Amino acid sequence: ERPEPTIFTIFGAAGDLAWRKLVPAIYDLFRDGWLPDKFSIMGIGHLHTKKSQYLDHLREGVEQFSRHGKPGKESWENFVSHLDFLEADLEQKQAYQDLSDELERIEKDWGDKAQRVFYLAMPPAMMAPITEGLAKARLNQRREHARIVVEKPFGSDLESARELNRLLGRLFDEKQIFRIDHFLGKETVQNILAFRLANAMFEPIWNRHYIDHVQINVAEKLGVEHRGHYYDKAGALRDMIQNHLLQILCLVAMEAPITFDDNEVRNKKVDVLHAIRDIPPSQVHEYAVRGQYGGGWLQGEHVPGYRQEPNVDPESLTETYAAVKLYVDNWRWQGVPFYLRTGKRLSDRITEVSIQFRPVPHQTFPARALLDRQPNRLIIAIQPEEGILLRFESKQPGPSLHLTPVMMQFFYKEAFREEPVDAYETLLLDIMNGDATLFMRADQAEAAWGVIQPILDVWAEQRPTDFPNYQAGTWGPEQAEVLIAKDGRTWTLPT
Ligand code: BG6
Repeated sequence: ERPEPTIFTIFGAAGDLAWRKLVPAIYDLFRDGWLPDKFSIMGIGHLHTKKSQYLDHLREGVEQFSRHGKPGKESWENFVSHLDFLEADLEQKQAYQDLSDELERIEKDWGDKAQRVFYLAMPPAMMAPITEGLAKARLNQRREHARIVVEKPFGSDLESARELNRLLGRLFDEKQIFRIDHFLGKETVQNILAFRLANAMFEPIWNRHYIDHVQINVAEKLGVEHRGHYYDKAGALRDMIQNHLLQILCLVAMEAPITFDDNEVRNKKVDVLHAIRDIPPSQVHEYAVRGQYGGGWLQGEHVPGYRQEPNVDPESLTETYAAVKLYVDNWRWQGVPFYLRTGKRLSDRITEVSIQFRPVPHQTFPARALLDRQPNRLIIAIQPEEGILLRFESKQPGPSLHLTPVMMQFFYKEAFREEPVDAYETLLLDIMNGDATLFMRADQAEAAWGVIQPILDVWAEQRPTDFPNYQAGTWGPEQAEVLIAKDGRTWTLPT
C-alpha cells in the first residue's frame, strides 16, 4: 500500500541514526516504489557543515547501508530532489514556526494536504522542547495526519517513562504516537506470530504441558563502538532487555489475538508483561546476572575492554551483559522459565529464540539406544541466520538401535531467495500508513520498565566489585552459567 502524500521531518537529521538507518531505509523504499510521488524529507536542526557536504555524507551512508548498494547518479539526484534541510535552533520557538511555514509551502506546491511525520532521532533531553515546540506551533493539531515518532531510549526507568508518556499524552493522541522498537520490524521477529498463528500444529503444544523452558539469546560481537556517551548511562538491561528481548518474549508468550488489529495485538502483548512475576529485591541475585567485558581476543584481533572505550568512565560500573530469568504467571506458562541473555563483545553474533520441549513421558527405548539423546528444541533464528529449525530424535541408520538428534530446517534465503527488507523500512512505511501494530503503546513501554525496575534498583544500590568479569570474545560471565545451571539447564549457545 502506497501512503498518502507525506512530509517526513527528521529531528536529528545530521545524526548517526539518520545516516545509518533512516535515510538508507527511505532511499530503499523510494527505489522500490513504495513512496508516494508527493513525498518530502525535511531535516531540521544544525548541520555544522555545508549542505553539499551533508549530502555527500548521506550518500556515503546509503552506499554502505542500502539494500540497493551504491546509488547511481540519476537515482540519487532523483532522491535528493525530495530532500530539504531547515537550519534551526530547536530550543527556540521560531524553529517550529519556520517548520510550519515550510510544511505549508510544500503542501501549497503540491496542491494537496500531506501527512506530517515528525521523527525524533534526538537525545532524550530534547524530547520535551521538541514536543512542546511542535504543539505551540500547532503542528500536533491534525490528529489524523500528524504523527510523532519517538526513538529509544524511552526514558531511563519506570518513572521517567511515565513522565514522558504524560508529556506526549498531553500534546498528542495516543494514535499519533509511534514508539519505535526496531526489533519488531525484523522479518524473523514478525514471523514469530505468523509461525504460531497461521499453523495449527505447534499451538496445541505451546504451553507448560509440553515446553520445558524458553531462551532468548541476543549475542553481539560488537563492542560499544562510538556510543559510549549514551551507553555508559544505559547498560544492557536498559538498552536491550527492557525493549527488544521483552518484546520477543511477548510474541512467544502472548495469547492469540482475535484479529490483527493494532490495539488487539498490543493488548495481548501487554497482558504478558503484566503476568511476569515480580522479582523481590532480596532475590534479584537469583534471577539476574550482570557482566562487563574486559579486553580480549575476537577473531584473531585484540580488542579493548569496555572501560577503555571512548566516552566511557574508566571506572565504569555499567553492565555490557545481562542474563535474566523470568516467569510468566498465567495458565499457559505457569512454572516455565524464560531465560533472557544479551551481551556485547561475545564470541559470536547470534540472535535466536530457543524453545525446549519436555522429555517424552515414558521411555520405550533401552538406555544404550539413548546415549546421544538431546531434548526436542525449536529454534527461531533471527540473525544473522534467518530461519526456523526443529531438532528431534531419529534412528541412526544401521542394524543396531541407536537414536541421534537431527535438524529439520527452513531458511529464508533458501525459501524466498530475496534479501529481506530492513526493519526500518517496514516500520517507516507502517508509520506513513498509520499502522501502529508494531509499535509500543504507552502502557506497554511502562509495563516493560516495570518488569526490570527491581533489577535496576538493586543493581544501582549494590555496586559490582568484580567488573570486568568476562573477556571480550567469550560467552559472558561465569555467574550466568551458574544462573541457569542451578535449574539443571544450560544456555543453548554456543550450539
Ligand atoms: C540497539 C541497541 O537498539 O540495538 C544497540 O541500542 C544494539 O546497543 C542494537 O547493538 C542491535 O540491533 P541489531 O538490529 O543490529 O541487532
